[in-house]
Order: sequence, then structure tokens, then C-alpha cells
Amino acid sequence: MDEEKIQQAMADLRNQGEMADADAVGTVGSPECGDMVRMWLKFREDETGRKVIDRASFQSFGCQTALAVASVATEMIAGKPVDEVLEMEAAELSRPLGALPPMKMHCGQMVEGALREALAAGEEQMLPESNRSGTAQPMAPTLIDSFSGQDVPAAGGRIRIVPLDDVQES
Ligand code: FES
Repeated sequence: MDEEKIQQAMADLRNQGEMADADAVGTVGSPECGDMVRMWLKFREDETGRKVIDRASFQSFGCQTALAVASVATEMIAGKPVDEVLEMEAAELSRPLGALPPMKMHCGQMVEGALREALAAGEEQMLPESNRSGTAQPMAPTLIDSFSGQDVPAAGGRIRIVPLDDVQES
């Protein structure tokens, strides 16, 4: 990990904040450090009909590394087909910052986990209404709402904050 690149990313965080018209959102929390990362995704179809990520945004109460990884990751996945993004792991999402040291790997995995949760929610949206589990999160409040007990999505269902360990095991 290149500390200078982390500082540069921190000084110019991209795509930070709630996305009002998002198609899907995923949230992951780490029981160990207490940090959380939430990612919003907007999808579109490309000219060949493939589902691609139009844009992504994030919020995080995480450490600097998680913020920096989320920033570069949201830039990296914009315009990419969903099936390609599904293959991307923390090491790839954080590549612009250099290899993460072992003690910082979980910061990158938080971002990967939030992305995976959002992609899963996006997949669920494609299912007929009757087949949905009720955990899709088409419109979600902010992380601040999560902590203030007002975490009630406008479009029904419930917000699911997934412990990072569960994401890694699934
Ligand atoms: Fe927990 Fe970085 S220390 S996300």
C-alpha cells in the first residue's frame, strides 16, 4: 500500500454520498473495528444489452484505507459489466492504491462486501415481485440514519446490515 496514494485519494474522494436514484444498495459492517461501508449502484444496459454499472457511490464511517479503497473502487467499476465486477475482489478493487498490507486487507474486503451486497440486491430486483426475499434495498437512507434508528427504506422491506464475516463466508 502506498501511503502517498492513500493520502491523495483521501484529499480527493470521489463518488462519496448517497445516490438518490440508485437501483441497489449494500451495507457491510465489521464487528472487529466497528466500521461500516455502504455502496449504492445505478445500472444500465450497454449497446449489446449487457447489464453494466452506470455509476456507484459510497458512504463510510471506516478508516482512511476503507474510504480510499471505496473511492477508487467506485471509479473503477463505473461502466463495467456486472458479471465482470462480480469477479473483482478486494485486491483488485484497491489496486490503484498498491497492495494492501495484511492488517488492512479487511478494509478492502469491507468495500468488496458492500459491493457484493449491492450487486445481490440488484439481482433480486430483476426477479418477479413474488420471488423476492424482501431484503432488496432500492432506496436506502444514509448511514447516519442507520445509527439514529431511522433506518426505514422508503420503498418497503428492511435494511440489512451484513457483518463482513457473513459476506466472506457466503
Ligand atoms: Fe476497519 Fe479499516 S480498520 S475498515
